[in-house]
Amino acid sequence: MCGIVGYIGQRDCTDVLMDGLEKLEYRGYDSAGIAVFEKTGIKTVKTKGKLIDMRDKLQKEGSPVGHCGIGHTRWATHGEPSDQNSHPHSNGRVTIVHNGIIENYKELKEFLTEKGYVFQSQTDSEVVACLLDYYYSERNPLRAIMETVKELQGSYALGIIFRDFPDRVYATRKESPLIVGIGENEYFIGSDIPAFLKYTKNYVLLEDDDIVCMKTDGIEFYDVHGLPEKKEISVAEWDVEQAQKCGYPHFMLKEIHEQPGIVGNTVESCCRDGVPYFDDIGLTDELIRGVKRVFVVACGTAMHAGIIGRYAIEGLARVPVTVEVASEFRYMDPIVGEGDLVIVVSQSGETADTRAGMELAQHRGAKTLAVVNVKYSAIARQADMYIHTLAGPEIAVASTKAYTAQISVMYLLAFRFAFARGTISEDRMRELTAQLLSAPGSIQRVIDRKKECQFIASKLVNADNLFFIGRTFDYALSLEGSLKLKEISYIHSEAYAAGELKHGTISLIEQGIPVITVATQANILAKTISNMEEVKARGGVIIAVCRKGTSFAEGTVDMKLEIDAPELDDMLVPLPTVCALQLIAYYTSVLRGIDPDKPRNLAKSVTTE
Ligand code: AGP
Ligand code: GLU
Repeated sequence: MCGIVGYIGQRDCTDVLMDGLEKLEYRGYDSAGIAVFEKTGIKTVKTKGKLIDMRDKLQKEGSPVGHCGIGHTRWATHGEPSDQNSHPHSNGRVTIVHNGIIENYKELKEFLTEKGYVFQSQTDSEVVACLLDYYYSERNPLRAIMETVKELQGSYALGIIFRDFPDRVYATRKESPLIVGIGENEYFIGSDIPAFLKYTKNYVLLEDDDIVCMKTDGIEFYDVHGLPEKKEISVAEWDVEQAQKCGYPHFMLKEIHEQPGIVGNTVESCCRDGVPYFDDIGLTDELIRGVKRVFVVACGTAMHAGIIGRYAIEGLARVPVTVEVASEFRYMDPIVGEGDLVIVVSQSGETADTRAGMELAQHRGAKTLAVVNVKYSAIARQADMYIHTLAGPEIAVASTKAYTAQISVMYLLAFRFAFARGTISEDRMRELTAQLLSAPGSIQRVIDRKKECQFIASKLVNADNLFFIGRTFDYALSLEGSLKLKEISYIHSEAYAAGELKHGTISLIEQGIPVITVATQANILAKTISNMEEVKARGGVIIAVCRKGTSFAEGTVDMKLEIDAPELDDMLVPLPTVCALQLIAYYTSVLRGIDPDKPRNLAKSVTTE
């Protein structure tokens, strides 16, 4: 959510900031701005809209010329997207960019108004600029920051410049991500590594409450009490190419194509001698045997991966699993505690609700296991145990490759749980793992037949409503297929357990409504077919996504998309099948003239509640 960048060095600051903001565009935003020290003072340019509007404005107003500054893409939480509400905000001697929410901004605003401050925006963020100015009485930036953050409630990543110090960028954070890039005599801040990956791979993770001061001649880190800190420099594993489109028209399509490799790498990284192995992260067979219940806590697509995990773990290992939407879990006073294992699934590792859910579980004595794609994220670092999904940087807002990596891990956990608890033999665990290792082949076969998905998309492009139905694993896939389509095509769609349709929703089925039926599970195929017939009888158009060779009675199905995966157990067929649903969503979005990488209103990493 929102992007923060900052730079000090010898390069043209406007170029570096704009370039960094472009790399963070995927996070979602509605306005943008930069503030750069020029010889005569700070020049701020900001606007509602996209970076293209920002570039227009820079051309009209003149790009700031300098070597030190901060930049921002805003995802509005307080106050509509407007030029005035765009960041940077400045009041008096301080200019800031902020990501997050200042929960006590009303009280602070009242206090500052009494002190004579006049506010120019409706944002919560502006109070930070004023408060910093208020505490800047001794002209000591570090002290001003320390005093200010003491008063702030909520979440923040802040990039700060002080009018009197044209050669410094300060930054601090709490519960919103911020990373420092270390170059040669140049320093960067960014909400994520791609913001500065082009210039340096060396980075330092800021922990909550850390303060950094970047100067032309060095960098200093301080803790919340203003005491100097030593920080470890890490080297990013991602390369610039991974964060670029590499000839694909959209990141989403590129990321869909990466899935065979990602599933292979993720599965291999979790296996030893051909079977899943988690001892190295502390998830031993002994611990697994002691688990009373499993919770999966996550949001959106990651939560859907949890549902696949539920069917796999319960089905194979016979341990009760519940899947909880993180924003509910954190507030519903859940019965969770010692003996429970809470698996938190997240691509970004920064999702505020998921993180809070994990903290609550830890507080109540449960063990937590993070399945996270971003190694340096808060959730990955805070969890008791951590499995790294090897999807690489996922830029498109709609999650694809992170999901397939997540469900691959879910399967491996299911196999190991089942073996450790004696519900499957070692041979069966080996056999299932070998199948999973072969899954990239079937995913690739779906990708090779993407034209068929494009054809189906061409039939959906004018729909106002549509449905996805399926049972068990196919239901979990329906939820994901429907979310994917909604978020990037803006077509209203609902996913239903196929057997649940007739308990109300079937009243919405009328002539010509497309119903995508996922029907890959042999044990309940006959039941799903009956549900298809019910829809057909009411005029619905059935698009069946099924295993190769599945036959239906004449007239039941209008279109058929076959998944060619003879080597996979039904339980594992979601891996290639979801790829087909992703492609259908992708092409529908493109055919409707939407940019699938940047759907309206959405942010990639949701760091607010
Ligand atoms: C997926 O396409 C979404 N845009 C969204 O549902 C996402 O999965 C969710 O916000 C969770 O994010 P996370 O995996 O980074 O925690
Ligand atoms: N809450 C701030 C605002 O609405 C910052 C939002 C963001 O993180 O982009 O301006």
